[in-house]
Amino acid sequence: MNITAYLEQHERKDLLRFLTCGSVDDGKSTLIGRLLYDTHMIYEDQLAAVCKDSKIHGTTNDDFDPALLTDGLKAEREQGITIDVAYRYFSTSKRKFIIADTPGHEQYTRNMATGASNCNLAVVLIDARLGVIAQTRRHSFIASLLGIKHVVVAVNKMDLVEWSETVFEKIREDYNDAIARLGFVDVHYIPISALKGDNVVNASENMPWYQGPTFLHHLEHVNISTDRNLVDLRFPVQYVIRPHLNFRGFAGTVASGVLRVGEEIMCLPSRQVSRIKSIETYSGPVQEAWPPLSVVVTLTDEIDVSRGSMLVHANNQPKLDTEFEAMLVWMNDQPASIGHNYLLKHTTQWIPATLSDIRYRIDVNTMRKADASPLAMNEIGRVHLSLHRPLAFDDYTRNPQTGNFVLVDRLSNATVAAGMILDRHMPRPPEKTAATRNIVREHSLISSDERERMLGQRGATLWLTGLSGSGKSTVAKQLEQALIEQGCFCYILDGDNIRHGLNKDLGFSAEDRQENIRRIAEVANLFSDAGLIVITAFISPYRADRDNARQVIGPDRFIEVHVSTPLEVCEQRDPKNLYKRARAGEIPQFTGISDPYEPPLAPEVDLNTADYTVEQSVDRLIAELRQRGFISS
Ligand code: ADX
Repeated sequence: MNITAYLEQHERKDLLRFLTCGSVDDGKSTLIGRLLYDTHMIYEDQLAAVCKDSKIHGTTNDDFDPALLTDGLKAEREQGITIDVAYRYFSTSKRKFIIADTPGHEQYTRNMATGASNCNLAVVLIDARLGVIAQTRRHSFIASLLGIKHVVVAVNKMDLVEWSETVFEKIREDYNDAIARLGFVDVHYIPISALKGDNVVNASENMPWYQGPTFLHHLEHVNISTDRNLVDLRFPVQYVIRPHLNFRGFAGTVASGVLRVGEEIMCLPSRQVSRIKSIETYSGPVQEAWPPLSVVVTLTDEIDVSRGSMLVHANNQPKLDTEFEAMLVWMNDQPASIGHNYLLKHTTQWIPATLSDIRYRIDVNTMRKADASPLAMNEIGRVHLSLHRPLAFDDYTRNPQTGNFVLVDRLSNATVAAGMILDRHMPRPPEKTAATRNIVREHSLISSDERERMLGQRGATLWLTGLSGSGKSTVAKQLEQALIEQGCFCYILDGDNIRHGLNKDLGFSAEDRQENIRRIAEVANLFSDAGLIVITAFISPYRADRDNARQVIGPDRFIEVHVSTPLEVCEQRDPKNLYKRARAGEIPQFTGISDPYEPPLAPEVDLNTADYTVEQSVDRLIAELRQRGFISS
């Protein structure tokens, strides 16, 4: 075979990424070293150095110690533990391999989470003398959480248990029990001695009772071709390329599914539709592209596409939402706390996000739910996140590429958590905080029906949101008067007033605005429960906060009114002279000028007060309340 043909064949070989997990002394490094040595992947000079080191370290008497091949960094070797994720590459005539070697030390769960993303297979090493231990469970749990479908259980150190089939069978049974609920599709058990080389690359003569494949043979043949998601087209746009006016291309890596020239696509979040005109790659144009190819796509129409947009098929869309549930592996010294803001990195974009709830923690040793006290380093928990703008995502188990994310601390820039999105719907459990954990709700003896009959109306909240000067308070006051004149009970909660009392401790940072809206939502909920028509007039600039209010008050009695008067008009009106002062730099974080306003995506009512008189606006809202049956006509 000539060299070109050889290289081409090598190019075509598929790639298996695997992860080794085990405790410090389970023999991970020895196993990998043995694998490299027996597949002749080691150079003579490396080998000579290792044989010399084996003598110095004295771990294997005078024998060659394969672990020394793997434990690359000298400092780590001296510490006796490997700290970070290290990747190693090797190939055989059948396949190419990437090994994500993660340390087994108890507190390094986070490294495993980092190393394991993208892996096809996990090698779980078990010391035959110790059997299934807490760490085996922990690592297996994380592997399943990360969506790894294939597991090889390498029962190591069989030489130290006299090559006993009984020991091996007992471990197989125990592990099977331990992972019963984890959903692996393929688990394979192999008895080995990494140190002696039994069943790693060459079949063991010491364990004639084992008829299965060797470790390497299994890695070479395990079927991973069906693991790839070629069904759901997801193309997150990394860059818009516009070298000159006649070319506008979108660069990115196909996350899943197949892109085809001529096919109709939809761009999220704008939901605009176009067709794929061309797909360019490094080596020229192609008709089709699938993961993990990096390409530049051009479209037949000028639609709204930017960094962070996602191209999908209209009939197969990911979820587009400003909140989701997720499993988090916490990786920071500073524990996770409810209400904290982070930056969320998902595919090609960064989005501000709030950790709105920690539902529960998982005790990885028992795999049971534990209380939701703040997540500490290496802990895993189920959380709820609110985003400051909509994100297109999938359930992690369906699509790991668009279902994973990391959280980054805004100040230190440290990655604090790795997350997996859960898009299975579950009813919201009642919010549990330190204050409410031991408190049981009392139920009133009066039903809401009785209240309604007495008042002749149903409690509701009209949530007015919009820029300062948009007319929220003016409309709210006139509406209140008109409703009272009709005999309806109503009450206004207004930004400037509430900030003099209940919320006088709050300023205008994103956190404070969030807390402002959270408290207002709770008050509006109580008043609506009491049967009142509540009219709130707050800028409430963040979508996630308003969505949270909708949940607290109840979507069936929450009417979001976007007072959508344009900024120019608000600024011209400038009733309190605040825009002028904000422009002059006297008021920091002023909404619309130096702070964001996120308009509602689907408000129940859109009210641009530049187009209506106050009376018309009031009539419009009263009609809405009637139509929804909150007040009678
Ligand atoms: S919100 O953003 O938290 O919803 P809220 O509606 O309570 O704001 O208060 C807004 C009112 O506070 C404005 O109408 C204005 O009178 C005043 N205000 C003072 N500083 C600011 C600021 N930096 N941004 C917006 N409004 C401000």
